[in-house]
Amino acid sequence: MENVKSYLAENKDRFINELVELLKIPSISADSNYKKDVIEAAEAVRTQLEAAGADKTELCETAGFPVVYGEKIIDASKPTILVYGHYDVQPADPIDLWDSPPFEPVIKDEKIYARGAADDKGQMYMHVKAFEFMMQTNQLPCNVKFIIEGEEEVGSVSLEGFIKENKEKLAADLILISDTSMLSLENPSITTGLKGLSYLEVEVTGPNRDLHSGLYGGAVGNPINILCKMIGSLKDENNHIAIPGFYDKVLEASEEERALIAKTPFSLEEYKKKLDIEDVEGEAGYTTIERTGIRPTLDVNGIWGGYIGEGAKTVLPSKAYAKISMRLVPNQSDEEITKLFQEHFESIAPKSVKVKVKPHHGATPYVMPIDIPAYQAANEAIETTFGKTAVPVRAGGSIPIVALFEEVLGLKSILLGFGLDTDAIHSPNEHYGINNFMLGTETIIHFYERYSKLK
Ligand code: BES
Ligand code: MN
Ligand code: MN
Repeated sequence: MENVKSYLAENKDRFINELVELLKIPSISADSNYKKDVIEAAEAVRTQLEAAGADKTELCETAGFPVVYGEKIIDASKPTILVYGHYDVQPADPIDLWDSPPFEPVIKDEKIYARGAADDKGQMYMHVKAFEFMMQTNQLPCNVKFIIEGEEEVGSVSLEGFIKENKEKLAADLILISDTSMLSLENPSITTGLKGLSYLEVEVTGPNRDLHSGLYGGAVGNPINILCKMIGSLKDENNHIAIPGFYDKVLEASEEERALIAKTPFSLEEYKKKLDIEDVEGEAGYTTIERTGIRPTLDVNGIWGGYIGEGAKTVLPSKAYAKISMRLVPNQSDEEITKLFQEHFESIAPKSVKVKVKPHHGATPYVMPIDIPAYQAANEAIETTFGKTAVPVRAGGSIPIVALFEEVLGLKSILLGFGLDTDAIHSPNEHYGINNFMLGTETIIHFYERYSKLK
């Protein structure tokens, strides 16, 4: 393609300003107070897609938030890329820990700070601008369709139905997604796997009301003490998950795969330093990259109960709660794991309490083959931009719809992400490097060219 660098350089400020406007919309899908904003973000994305040159742009209604659709069909005999992304964002709390308000984007040290900057508005927007370039310069080499959803952060609940009902509309050759990270700009990588997910909430009930912790303490089961003990027992001394049957279906990595993983450029020292921790912790017998990439995990995401206001209140609470996630690997099924957890958790509860397990959303794990033309095209695109071969890396995060794209549409996904693990996605002070945005956009453009040739 011609004039890529000059077009991007000339239009850089405008691109960033447009992205800043999109980031000002607090499209938090999890919080019903922001319903109007989520829909406003959908409308803004549709408008931008149309301005970039897409035909048939629309907001497709679903049971939840709308899916933004747009397409450019230049020639039915050419391949079709289906771009997926999301315009919804995570809640911004804890809001006090932000250095600047989450929906008033600030540019500092060549990074944009705002909720959604990297996950996923900034990354999704690279695709809109890459498409704009190809349209403006008459160089679009294949057909393209966009589906940008508004419920990814709450488990893509409505999108599953949408893709099942719109198979023809979504007919394509490949899914292209930028919603993951790379190792670094020096060591560009391609994500070759996503974890599955089982997410649930547990409720432990003791006495029928809060009690005086002096009058009753030591004599009545305390649901918080008991919940902590139960959670503590979910892993053994080797940080192996102690739920019977949990590992039964796990597809163990081969020695070759593990040897390849061992070659990943990664500094444990730097990793610890960036997180300000003395040491890492995880399943015995596996490296940090293996723990995040190829091993299933279990974590408490939140825990509450009793008195948490100012000062001291002596109370033995009636109830305690926790939110627990388990990240899964091939061939674990989230439904099976949720069931195993539920049975186990109920079985370890002492008689002094009652336990309820409430499943939330799930996701199926996904692994991408690296010996197909689409991966080769992605690698060549990275080589063209970065002058380096991409390292394949399996991610610890989940994108629920990816496994369903394969199951329902029969399509593989290329996870061409340009975030960094240090972008603080889902955390206070989320940010996205302007360089990442620009180099990502350039790489996406190269990908279209390579893929159209190789396919
Ligand atoms: N973009 C992330 C997933 C991600 C980030 C994958 C970085 C790989 C590297 C996505 O928006 C996300 O946060 N997914 C959720 C799952 C969802 C069901 C809430 C997750 O992984 O927690
Ligand atoms: Mn995301
Ligand atoms: Mn996310």
